[in-house]
Amino acid sequence: MADLGQQSGLTFRQDYFADPVAWAGLVDLLRDTFSIDISLQDQFGGPDPTSMPFGYFDADGRCVANFSAFSMPLIINGRTVKAAGYQSGAVRPEWRGRGLYRDLMQRAFAQTKAEGFELDILLTDKPVLYQPYGFKTVPQRIFAGPPPKMIGSFPRARPLSLEDAGDRDLLKTLLQSRVPVSQRFAVASQMEMFYLNARFDPDVRLTLVEYTTVVAWKYDGRTPRILDVVGKTIPSLEAIQSALGVPSSRIEVCFPPDQLDWQGMPEPHQGYTSLMMRGDVADDSGGPIMLSPMAEF
Ligand SMILES: CC(C)(COP(=O)(O)OP(=O)(O)OC[C@H]1O[C@@H](n2cnc3c(N)ncnc32)[C@H](O)[C@@H]1OP(=O)(O)O)[C@@H](O)C(=O)NCCC(=O)NCCS
Repeated sequence: MADLGQQSGLTFRQDYFADPVAWAGLVDLLRDTFSIDISLQDQFGGPDPTSMPFGYFDADGRCVANFSAFSMPLIINGRTVKAAGYQSGAVRPEWRGRGLYRDLMQRAFAQTKAEGFELDILLTDKPVLYQPYGFKTVPQRIFAGPPPKMIGSFPRARPLSLEDAGDRDLLKTLLQSRVPVSQRFAVASQMEMFYLNARFDPDVRLTLVEYTTVVAWKYDGRTPRILDVVGKTIPSLEAIQSALGVPSSRIEVCFPPDQLDWQGMPEPHQGYTSLMMRGDVADDSGGPIMLSPMAEF
């Protein structure tokens, strides 16, 4: 691949997370670009060990451009799919328009192709960047409708606090042993993004149900919105809503609800970003889907 780095006085580096200074360089780049602090992951075991970062660094060691791939196994229609996710794409303003991002995308896509990933997936507010590489936007749907009738007893439930080290450990254990929240479309296993999404969005509530299951949800005072369910089994929506203790006339679920013993109607989801995929599996994923907001990356 043409060495853009030499032409521009930058150093190309890949798989550099073991170097704390380079990792800090990426933290700075993403803080300056997106106002997010990915170093919060350090409280939760550090970055995803499957990450494959590709970056350019200047003479002072600043990370000026990055694009990362990572392994993100998905369950689609009951089958485990070897999928690669792409994230942390940014170029510092003074370095834009010189082809650095194109170069990093091409390197990342070549690497995941060589490693035999069968599906590529990303979320973006700039779909046009990825269309030339065969990515297509997949419309997402939330599932909504009247909640199930609550006839059972109220399971024991309490809020989980990520400020509390014991609760963090418990969440980690549950994430490590979780079953996918849907057989239609869900991450098979992913911890780091769940944690970051819970930290980034103060409206996300985490409720521990029966000591064995964490429900991530939001509530605007009228409609509970279920974002994800983490545990070794997935309780019915009736049990979940009983545990949350918020009766309502409508409930919304942000993933296909095939495990919840409840049917919601798919409705268009107005998100800030588009879900894009490429690969044969993407073409025949069939039917309405949504990636749990807790798996967003
Ligand atoms: C978007 C961004 C990463 C592009 O970086 P860059 O190094 O300037 O991009 P490049 O010069 O390598 O251009 C790559 C291609 O993207 C196109 N492109 C660049 N910026 C674009 C933008 N904002 N919108 C649409 N297309 C864009 C270029 O025309 C080029 O197309 P080509 O390959 O057909 O010639 C950079 O502007 C950035 O960091 N923006 C803020 C963060 C962001 O939006 N990141 C992407 C999140 S998914």
